[in-house]
Amino acid sequence: MAGALVAGSLDIDRYLAEHESKSTLRFITCGSVDDGKSTLIGRLLYESQLLLDDQLAALEADSKRVGTQGEELDFALLVDGLQAEREQGITIDVAYRYFTTDRRQFIVADTPGHEQYTRNMVTGASTADLAVILVDARKGVLVQTRRHSYVVALMGISQVVLAVNKLDLVDYDESAFRAIEDEYRSFAAALGIKRVTCIPVSALRGDNLLGPSPNTPWYDGPDLMRCLEDAPVGSDAAAGPLRFPVQWVNRPSSDFRGFSGAVAGGVVRPGDRVVVLPVGTASTVERIVSADGDLPEAAPGQSVTLTLSDEIDVSRGDVICATDQPASVSDQVEAHIVWMHEQPMLPGRRYLLKLGTRTVNATLARPKYRLNVNTLEHAAATTLALNEIGVCNLSLDREVAFDPYGANRDLGGFILIDRLTNETVGAGMVNFGLRRAQNLHWQDVEVDAAAHTALKGHRPAVIWLTGLSGAGKSTIANVLERKLHADGVHTFLLDGDNVRHGLNRDLGFTDADRVENIRRVGEVCRLMAQAGLVVIAAFISPFRAERRMVRDLLDRGTFCEVFVDAPLEVAASRDPKGLYAKARQGQLQHFTGVDSPYEPPSDPELHVDTTVTTPDAAADQVIRHLRETGVLPGGSG
Ligand code: ADX
Repeated sequence: MAGALVAGSLDIDRYLAEHESKSTLRFITCGSVDDGKSTLIGRLLYESQLLLDDQLAALEADSKRVGTQGEELDFALLVDGLQAEREQGITIDVAYRYFTTDRRQFIVADTPGHEQYTRNMVTGASTADLAVILVDARKGVLVQTRRHSYVVALMGISQVVLAVNKLDLVDYDESAFRAIEDEYRSFAAALGIKRVTCIPVSALRGDNLLGPSPNTPWYDGPDLMRCLEDAPVGSDAAAGPLRFPVQWVNRPSSDFRGFSGAVAGGVVRPGDRVVVLPVGTASTVERIVSADGDLPEAAPGQSVTLTLSDEIDVSRGDVICATDQPASVSDQVEAHIVWMHEQPMLPGRRYLLKLGTRTVNATLARPKYRLNVNTLEHAAATTLALNEIGVCNLSLDREVAFDPYGANRDLGGFILIDRLTNETVGAGMVNFGLRRAQNLHWQDVEVDAAAHTALKGHRPAVIWLTGLSGAGKSTIANVLERKLHADGVHTFLLDGDNVRHGLNRDLGFTDADRVENIRRVGEVCRLMAQAGLVVIAAFISPFRAERRMVRDLLDRGTFCEVFVDAPLEVAASRDPKGLYAKARQGQLQHFTGVDSPYEPPSDPELHVDTTVTTPDAAADQVIRHLRETGVLPGGSG
């Protein structure tokens, strides 16, 4: 039962000790304001006496002034104040509230109920043990109830409390409640939600929130607070095999080397046989070191430092696993993705992927499908927009250790981060690793890049000319290649228009297609650089992220970014192909500079202003740069 908690009246040491030994239930509430969600949370907070006196005084005053409940307290005001605060800025997406009873502490994630906020729900649900889903007894299971339940199941929450609210408005009619209960149970079973408790409540009148209600004599299940106090927490993770993602290598002196982090699965004890992934080295746990001395064991959530009996190579991001049930290792996975950014997902673009304590580069393939979360139908999709959920394959630039999300949330959940802005753009749940990764190997070649270079008499390079259409890229590229060729340099010119007649003839000019265009061209540049060539690439390449991707594909010092710069008006007045005229008359869509963006380089190797520099002088600048950096012989570099 919920008990009063008035800290001042208790012995403080006893209070703290009791508090420490209490378990914590994290839960999320789903439902719209109309369903009575705010009233429900407000009443739980009120009844557990968490409210401070001044909050209570303000609530009484507000209830009289703007409340909808006459002389009674309007609990929704407690929560709605926060809603307004939230709407002012998008930074507060999820509000966490704390309350406590004699038996347990609670952290409740409250998220806005509106349709467009899947992103927020995912954030709140990712750490929750249980979800309280509200429905209005008069309306029953709605499309949004299904959506909330789908996201809850997707996020790995296996316990749902369906609070059938406003029962007072249907005269506490049992058959109304049972009909909703039956419908919801079969839907939840289809989603794989294991534990469902349906409770008839009235958040407003307080029925079945804390103690049984005399108005529902036909209901013999638990009240809401009992249900929250009795719900199992944290047991799944402890029952699984050991997972310990290494946060940092702790080496205070030459005779101590430990691996610090938080246990993410299983229970670790000294003597446990372990394997360090992704590399696969085996060892044995020697000690579990903590601030309170050595421990006999550590469970999920506990932060400790492990020492191993062998001097093996372990670094940040590695995962120490039980030998008999190791995590999977792959550089390709299939995952559910929830897109969280206004700018849609771009297949082919590289994002940072953070899984456990490991951060790698990841590229998403086109979605296999997008989910209609209202109907649970699969729809074809080329991208995912804000709040959309889909299933995609991802390729990573190195192997990671992971579990399917259903087996371990910490080792199966990840976030995607924009490499340039550092914003979180998506969240993912790994379904499984792809076997393709294990069936593809790198074949050694005897005549390698160094051997190719040795024959050429110069080093390979990629001269990347970027700029608006009409800025002068192709003109400079041609003059440059002629001069280099005359000097005996082995060159190849890749030009946007030409490549789009063959290799990339399936691509258009949407953002996604431009990303893919540059990804493919980047790979071609890499091959040509391995062949020892000086590649001249002339592409609008409007996005910084993809130019950076090509740079990162190549050995250091190989990529030379040249910003071929002309103001839009100058480029448009040159209009060598008549395309600006067409675009401005609306006959050509997605034209760079007109209705499609161009992101100028922030730190190019060379910046050529073609309103004052001739193509000949520009080419000479590039050649000088190649000599200075040692690509071509004869420079000082
Ligand atoms: S990029 O943006 O994907 O890098 P790319 O350099 O390959 O573009 O191709 C640009 C060339 O395609 C331009 O020089 C122009 O001749 C032609 N083109 C046709 N439609 C467009 C468009 N909508 N935007 C830009 N260029 C276009």
